Amino acid sequence: MTEIWAHRGARREAPENTVPAFELAVAQGADGIEIDVQLSADGVVVVMHDETVDRTTDGSGPVVAHTLAQLRKLDASAGMARHVGVKVPTLAETLDLLAPTGLKLNIELKNSEEDYPGLEERVLAAMAAHDLADRVVLSTFNHYSLKKLQTLGATSELGMLYTDPLYKPWRYASRLGVGAIHPPARFVLGAGWVRHAQAAGLAVRPWVVNSERALARMFRWGVEGVFTDVPAVARAVRDGQ
Ligand code: G3P
Ligand code: CA
Repeated sequence: MTEIWAHRGARREAPENTVPAFELAVAQGADGIEIDVQLSADGVVVVMHDETVDRTTDGSGPVVAHTLAQLRKLDASAGMARHVGVKVPTLAETLDLLAPTGLKLNIELKNSEEDYPGLEERVLAAMAAHDLADRVVLSTFNHYSLKKLQTLGATSELGMLYTDPLYKPWRYASRLGVGAIHPPARFVLGAGWVRHAQAAGLAVRPWVVNSERALARMFRWGVEGVFTDVPAVARAVRDGQ
């Protein structure tokens, strides 16, 4: 059965990458939650999508120019009036929240634009405190970072994110030694394409799949997971099949 992963939480109805979005995803029956992580100026792994705080908070400037204390003062409600005052969570807090739920967690390391030296080590350290490795998928568009995670002995599944129409990406992914490919949904070219990737031992999790039609198609094609902004819709489509 295809797993439903709430993309940045249930971000259509609650501010992305915040606790309300995670709680809503749990309530709506998601199987997993996808989050993005960056590093604060004082080396704390925080949950935020952009490299700057401008779009999702009332602050401005790079995440890495803010200490955790400074990030905590920001309103991360991203323009959603019902959630004014919601804070930027740390990875550790997010792990605390999700540990008892049994949900899976995809931690996307946002280290393609910012280098964030030490991000991989800090993510693994945060996870070590929670014994969640088998419920976590670590992914990034930075494939050097995937290799670094391997070198550091990461035991969680690694997901290879990409944005371009790679030809037979399972070949490259297999050489990279990852367990999953996370392609843009438009580059998942059919059930046969999915079978090829799976035959190479890879899980396939497209992003971002929101329409009922696209969700139904991905479920039919048998991908391992979909990242969606609307987990409740995805649950209804999957339950109806
Ligand atoms: O991990 C899938 C997806 O989240 C990657 O793109 O920009 O939403 O982080 P983005
Ligand atoms: Ca992401």
